[in-house]
Amino acid sequence: MEITLTTTPAAGLQCGALVALCFSRGNNGGEDVHESVAAAPETVPAGLDAWTNGWVWEVYAAKEFTGKALETALLHRPAGLKAMRLLLAGCGTRAKFGTPEARKLAGAALRTLKDKGVSDIGLALEGKLVSEKMIEALAEGFLLGDFEPDVYKTDPKKGEKRVERVCIAVPEQTAALEAALRRGRVIGEAQNYTRALVTEPSNLMTPRILADHARSMAAEQGLECEVLDEARMKQLGFGSLLGVAQGSVEPPCLIVLKYVPAAAAASAENPPADHLALVGKGVTFDSGGISIKPSEGMEKMKYDMAGAATVLGAMRALAALKPAVRVTGFAPCVENMVSGNAQRPGDIVKTYLGKTVEVLNTDAEGRLILADALTYAVRQGCTHLVDAATLTAAIAVALGHLYAGVFSNNEELKGKVLAAGKTEGERLWPFPMDEDYNDYLKSAFADLPNIGGRYGGSITASKFLENFVEKKPWVHLDIASTAWLDDSKAYLAKGPTGLPIRTFIRLALDWTPQS
Ligand code: BES
Ligand code: ZN
Ligand code: ZN
Repeated sequence: MEITLTTTPAAGLQCGALVALCFSRGNNGGEDVHESVAAAPETVPAGLDAWTNGWVWEVYAAKEFTGKALETALLHRPAGLKAMRLLLAGCGTRAKFGTPEARKLAGAALRTLKDKGVSDIGLALEGKLVSEKMIEALAEGFLLGDFEPDVYKTDPKKGEKRVERVCIAVPEQTAALEAALRRGRVIGEAQNYTRALVTEPSNLMTPRILADHARSMAAEQGLECEVLDEARMKQLGFGSLLGVAQGSVEPPCLIVLKYVPAAAAASAENPPADHLALVGKGVTFDSGGISIKPSEGMEKMKYDMAGAATVLGAMRALAALKPAVRVTGFAPCVENMVSGNAQRPGDIVKTYLGKTVEVLNTDAEGRLILADALTYAVRQGCTHLVDAATLTAAIAVALGHLYAGVFSNNEELKGKVLAAGKTEGERLWPFPMDEDYNDYLKSAFADLPNIGGRYGGSITASKFLENFVEKKPWVHLDIASTAWLDDSKAYLAKGPTGLPIRTFIRLALDWTPQS
């Protein structure tokens, strides 16, 4: 899909459908509709009422369309426009319309029009709405809305409805806006790349296959990629990760992707102080192991590698966007299976750090593989760690499916991650991490158990992880309930969301040296 900017005025845009951003009337929620749209100029773009011979006024007056967020109305052959159709796209109130809303609006407009067979879309952006962030968000929204997780459907009619072109009309086409459009494209495509990886079924997405994807992506993007195999991890003493992997015929691996900013590469003897690690859980299938999961819904456990896929996608974007900070991505990948070789409840494993863990539940495997990966990231010289993991079902109990949980040992880094999430419209919610929660993690036979009992499951999982970061500033994002969308939205297909990739990318792009 091509996305371009133009200065052609809205009325002159030749396209299958012109999208017009229409607002609702503030606190009145659209109830208090003016006699004519001309009398309420803040709701619809200037000229629209005249171009449509008063149709816009009529749909507003009839309350068929109020301008509330994601509402749409479609008119064919609008009299005063070159476009074949006009789509009124509801934006909600002007006061609440920001980049997260714009991203969704673009996705919803694209999905509505694609469904109707429109292949080229125009969007008119009035001057006061134009900004770099807005263009970036619109480009992302169009790309995200276009993603369909149906690659394995063989229906020949599938794909007949395709949007080929999107053109955004702005009053002035500057280099800064073109750069913003490119950023939006890079980020949107990276997020879709992550979603495509997560969409793959577990028979076609083993640790080895994920590593192959990482290698080819790195070669394309000019990143360095190293894959630690089973033998290397044995040598290093990754007992915790290898214990999870031992029940599967698929060998585990640790994918490492390295981005070094040009300035850092130039002065090797004076490396930059900060080195950010992005770490993602890569369980390509989580059966639960011997502590097996119920069969209902088990098919969804292919998305237990969403954290790893997010790391691959974020590194792909960062290779193109070139932040000033050094970033290394780590994706520990295993399959958690049941077999004669599988790890048993009660087994005790030795982590890379040296601490021993009693495996009381083989389904709490994410923390076991992350423990070794986090310590490895620290030993590789990373100064700040951020991980994303589909770690606990308990996070859905606590937050539902809207927010990812945030757990940290460092207020400053947590603040940065929360700010990045806010900028990017990825909702994040902080949890307590009091020292006293460590009392929930007691093992009679080893240094730590891998589970903390019935209560505060997402917090105890995080307290477990905290043991393995050697006191480095660290943030853990529990994405078990946000990485997958069970029902499609107007702006997004059902399936993997790619969250929190934009938080990862924004964190690196906006990085400022930390105390
Ligand atoms: N992969 C699961 C968590 C999960 C659940 C992700 C639902 C996505 C949707 C994780 O490995 C797991 O099984 N966690 C257990 C931990 C428990 C045994 C302490 C859980 O949350 O039930
Ligand atoms: Zn599990
Ligand atoms: Zn899992």
